[in-house]
Amino acid sequence: MELARRVRAEIGQEHRYAHCVRVARCAELLARRYGADPKKARLAGLLHDLARLYSPQRLLAECETRRIPINDLERAEPMLLHARLGAELARERFGVEDPAVLSAIAKHTCGDGEMSPLDCVVYLADGLEPGRNFPEREALWGLAQRDLTAAMRGTLSSMIGYLQQSGLTVAPQTVAAARHFGVVCVRGDIEAG
Ligand SMILES: [Fe+2]
Ligand SMILES: [Fe+2]
Repeated sequence: MELARRVRAEIGQEHRYAHCVRVARCAELLARRYGADPKKARLAGLLHDLARLYSPQRLLAECETRRIPINDLERAEPMLLHARLGAELARERFGVEDPAVLSAIAKHTCGDGEMSPLDCVVYLADGLEPGRNFPEREALWGLAQRDLTAAMRGTLSSMIGYLQQSGLTVAPQTVAAARHFGVVCVRGDIEAG
């Protein structure tokens, strides 16, 4: 409870904090189903968006101060940095040293070519928690209860479809994740940005 209070104060916005609580609950539930550590899943869920409300300038500046590498896409879309910066803030401000938890936070937005079950449940919880409203959410959440790999494939596919339709670049880590989980793309091979 004390942790939740601190996260709420750190995030400073009720809407985003409520999202973090839902992600924590969903990640814990999926972790129990797939043999990942429920406590780690809950912790990663609660802490995953610590930097989500930072301005683009602040994200760039805080990453530069910590020598977190920034690629061209992240320079153009600094919001993408909130995941890796968030992992760093979880370590600095909340004393999280567990690499499995830090990895799940760092990979929650773009995914990665290598994802542990814990990484996957936090990624899915973030994308599919009940506060999200996109047409496939409910079906994908249902799938996530039954088949982790199929849910990863479906969620990545939906995410990539959305980015492509919106004319946005798909992050290289997302392309790597899509290849790893065997996403078949409707519009040909995915171009890494
Ligand atoms: Fe996020
Ligand atoms: Fe999130």
